[in-house]
This record gives sequence, C-alpha cells and structure tokens, in this order.
Amino acid sequence: MNPLHWLISQCRRPRGLAGWLLARGMNRAHAPMTDWALSLISMQDSRTVLDIGCGGGGALLKLSELAPQAELHGIDYSPQSLGVAARTNRRLMEQGRVFLREADVSDLPYDDGRFDLIVAINSHYLWPDLEAGLGEIMRVLQPRGSVALAGGEYFGGKHDTRNRKLASNGRMNCQTLPELRDILSEAGYSGTVIHEEWNKGWFCVVGHKPVFDVEETAPPT
Ligand SMILES: C[S@@+](CC[C@H](N)C(=O)[O-])C[C@H]1O[C@@H](n2cnc3c(N)ncnc32)[C@H](O)[C@@H]1O
Repeated sequence: MNPLHWLISQCRRPRGLAGWLLARGMNRAHAPMTDWALSLISMQDSRTVLDIGCGGGGALLKLSELAPQAELHGIDYSPQSLGVAARTNRRLMEQGRVFLREADVSDLPYDDGRFDLIVAINSHYLWPDLEAGLGEIMRVLQPRGSVALAGGEYFGGKHDTRNRKLASNGRMNCQTLPELRDILSEAGYSGTVIHEEWNKGWFCVVGHKPVFDVEETAPPT
C-alpha cells in the first residue's frame, strides 16, 4: 500500500498505535475548522447532540462549552478513535455529560427522534454508504432537528485539484456543495444552507428534519 492510501485508510478507520496517534493529531489539526463550523450552528436550544465519527473527541469537548445544557453523545466505529475521545472528555464523561459508543453510522444504536442536533465533521465522505447514513440520521433526529456535515474535502472549492486527487486515490466520496445539498434534499432534509470558507477550503452544510413526514401531510382520501 502506498503512503497516501495508508494514510487515508487510517483516517477512514484509525487502527493500532498509528491510529491512536492520528486521532490525537486530528484533534489539533481539525480544531480551527471545527471552531468555524460549530460557530455557524445554532445550538442554544440543543438538549441532545450527537457527533458521528467523533474521532479523538475534540468537537465534543468544544460542544460542551457551546451547549453547556446539552447531553453530548459521540459514536465512531474505530476503538482507537473512541479511546482518544474518552481521554479527551474524561472529566465530562465522569460528570455524565458525554457518552461514547462504538457504532457505524449506518446502524445507529439510538431510538427514533433521540437528538435535536447531529454533526459529522470530516467524516461523511468516508462512509461506505452516504444515503444509508443520512437515512439513519433522519431516523434519530427529532422533527425540526438539524444535521451539519462539515470538513475540508469537497469539490469545487479552493483546493479542488488536491481534493479530486485525494478522492480518486483514497476512494473518498466527495461532492460539490450543490451536489451535497441535493443529496440532503433527496434524503428528505429541508431548508439546507451551504456555508463555505473559500480561503481556507472549508465547508459546512446544514439541513433540517421536516416537521411532518409524507404520510402525515397527505390529504385524506
Ligand atoms: C477523518 S476522522 C475525523 C474525526 C473527527 N470528526 C475530526 O474531525 O477530527 C473520521 C472518523 O470517522 C470515523 N468513521 C468513518 N466512517 C464511519 C462510519 N461508517 N461509522 C462511524 N464512524 C466512522 C473514523 O473511524 C474516524 O474516527
């Protein structure tokens, strides 16, 4: 495996000592983009927040300050990532504010309508089945709840050429931002807003679960 393939496969699912070190490094490397993305999301009313692909848990720690009233959950399917996330958030876990679980986004271990905000940072383009993940997120979101997908790997931005190389070498499922908005619409999300920090090469796309599903809004026959 060439070094780039190896690095992207570690980002996709950190493993072993290298995965542990990578998850720690991502907390530092992703902090500025995470700060920017979280600053765009309204969370004053959030009570239950889920971070999907929480990696080393840096976003959960930031969320604990931005939404001090919220119960915070993180899932990741890498035990190495979760080990670093547990260290990062040890005090908050002891206080019963942060909860971590090993799980795949395609099969979330939560009841329907459990969360009012779900974030996935530097993660969605690594999922094996984006549509299945968005369907599961829709299921565990409350009506009017929000989902935010954010990161630095997308097409059409300042780093388009780099990102296209990364995507083809590393089998990452990147999109342009209008394409990502359309994917969210097709998955049933409404009111999607695209944010882009062009100079840094960052995006944050926020969609919402509609209040009624199709069956409830259908006229009586
Ligand atoms: C590039 S890291 C980003 C971690 C963190 N969100 C950050 O921004 O620093 C991607 C993380 O998503 C996790 N991940 C990827 N696909 C996943 C899936 N299908 N289900 C759960 N976690 C997943 C990986 O294990 C990894 O920890």
